[in-house]
Amino acid sequence: MKTLVASILACASLLTFNAAEAKPIEIKFSHVVAENTPKGQMALKFKELAEAALPGQVEVKVYPNSQLYTDETVLQAMQLGDIEMAAPALSKFQAYTDQLQLFDLPFLFKDIDAVDRFQRGPQGQALLKSMESKMLVGLGFLHNGMKQLSANDPIRVPADISGKKFRIMTSDVLQAQFEAVQAIPLKKPFAEVFTLLQTKAIDGQESPWSNTYASKFFEVQKYVTETNHGILDYMVVTSSEFWYGLPDDVRAKLTVAMNEAIAYGNKVAIEQDAADRQHILDSGKTEIITLTDAERQQWVDAMKPVWNMFIDEIGADLVNAALKANN
Ligand code: LMR
Repeated sequence: MKTLVASILACASLLTFNAAEAKPIEIKFSHVVAENTPKGQMALKFKELAEAALPGQVEVKVYPNSQLYTDETVLQAMQLGDIEMAAPALSKFQAYTDQLQLFDLPFLFKDIDAVDRFQRGPQGQALLKSMESKMLVGLGFLHNGMKQLSANDPIRVPADISGKKFRIMTSDVLQAQFEAVQAIPLKKPFAEVFTLLQTKAIDGQESPWSNTYASKFFEVQKYVTETNHGILDYMVVTSSEFWYGLPDDVRAKLTVAMNEAIAYGNKVAIEQDAADRQHILDSGKTEIITLTDAERQQWVDAMKPVWNMFIDEIGADLVNAALKANN
């Protein structure tokens, strides 16, 4: 009996020792924007919720401001198992799927609510799985906002940016969008945009209000034109090897934490869109130009033909589903 009790105690202490020694699962979450943005806030909320739901079992390390990877390198690093999570803009997945190019089509969605309706629908949800053959799993969509154009000259109509250099994300649709108005698009990492603007190596850029404010682009741009010509949204991604390799209970709890973090990030996105527009206005450094209906129509007429160049790659069914979400 004594021997039995002794071996039970020995086993119990070994188990306690192992639990104390077991290293938490490390989740490195890399992104390129500031912490005071919808994505920065979402990532920190995910850390808080995931670590609270799985105390001692997971550790989330968030790396903002391209500290670890740029969006141009992060997905490859994820496929190699060097990083567990990221949330690149939907414009950055072109090398992995044609379908996400949908979100770059100019003047497709009338507002972020329409984007949200589409993403929650069956076609939107299917896109989260569209890169599984490339070992990437979408955990959810996250909003930022509608894009505006900034420059050092007032921009009202497409002719105003003819011949001017604009930084774009790595997207052929965005390239075609700027070429359609005779501007010169340059694909550059987000981390370089401020310096490119400051040194006048480029004339302008397109971003939602939160990035133009948080990354201080407005300090080196005299005008922002409220075009709402496109959207900037994200997909939170992880590698299939990491995700499906997790114990079921851990994956389930991380899924709950991620859904809650995204809901929080989306709330921040809506609040910051209006607040950061106001911050830019209040700074007195940048004039905000609003367009008349006739001026805006000139942009629509010039940029919308870009759809025809990509509709076969994206799929007409997806474009139609997106358009339906506008109603
Ligand atoms: C950009 O490159 O402009 C954006 O993807 C930055 C971001 O993550 O919001």
